[in-house]
Amino acid sequence: MSRVLIIESSARQQDSVSRQLTQTFTQQWQAAHPGDSITVRDLARNPVPHLDANLLGGWMKPAEQRNAAEQDSLQRSNELTEELLAADVLVMAAPMYNFAIPSTLKAWLDHVLRAGVTFKYTDTGPQGLLTGKRAYVLTARGGIYAGSAADHQEPYLRQVMGFIGIHDVEFIHAEGMNLGGDFHEKGLNQANAKLSQVA
Ligand SMILES: Cc1cc2nc3c(=O)[nH]c(=O)nc-3n(C[C@H](O)[C@H](O)[C@H](O)COP(=O)(O)O)c2cc1C
Repeated sequence: MSRVLIIESSARQQDSVSRQLTQTFTQQWQAAHPGDSITVRDLARNPVPHLDANLLGGWMKPAEQRNAAEQDSLQRSNELTEELLAADVLVMAAPMYNFAIPSTLKAWLDHVLRAGVTFKYTDTGPQGLLTGKRAYVLTARGGIYAGSAADHQEPYLRQVMGFIGIHDVEFIHAEGMNLGGDFHEKGLNQANAKLSQVA
């Protein structure tokens, strides 16, 4: 039995393409792996705070020197990190906002890239500690960017996931969602065709 963690980050609850992709993923995954558990963390409904002095204090100070706010921030960061550590499969839904990922998703990443917990520094450089996990990134984009220098989602997310040890990452892009003609339909069909191979 595997544990699946789905991260939602579209600001839209209705008409969101990336949420449509995670719904399709969930239906297909549950049909193929009925015993698996699926946890959803919705960063739009429940945003996590941005990295601030309290969080840095919580991470860096010894327990006896932390104030209440630092302790609270650390606790929240621990919950998010433990949720990720417990997952076997990570599914990240990422709309493209201003050529990159939603700030809510960046804020979550800032909580879970934790020195000594999800990566560590060694004599030979940083080493990711989240081995044995697989990830799927389901993106929705108004335009078409895959493989171009203007795609600041896929290279960035590959970098951060690789940094914490997740190297088995598949990207599924629904592109051209806001273009005219039949771009929307074609882009969605392509993404769904790739998704149907996943479960
Ligand atoms: C604030 C904002 C910024 C956006 N920036 C881009 C962008 O830089 N490039 C792009 O192709 N589409 C952009 N879009 C369009 C979205 O990527 C597209 O509508 C996508 O379907 C959003 O994901 P969702 O349907 O899951 O909400 C933007 C949309 C919003 C709301």
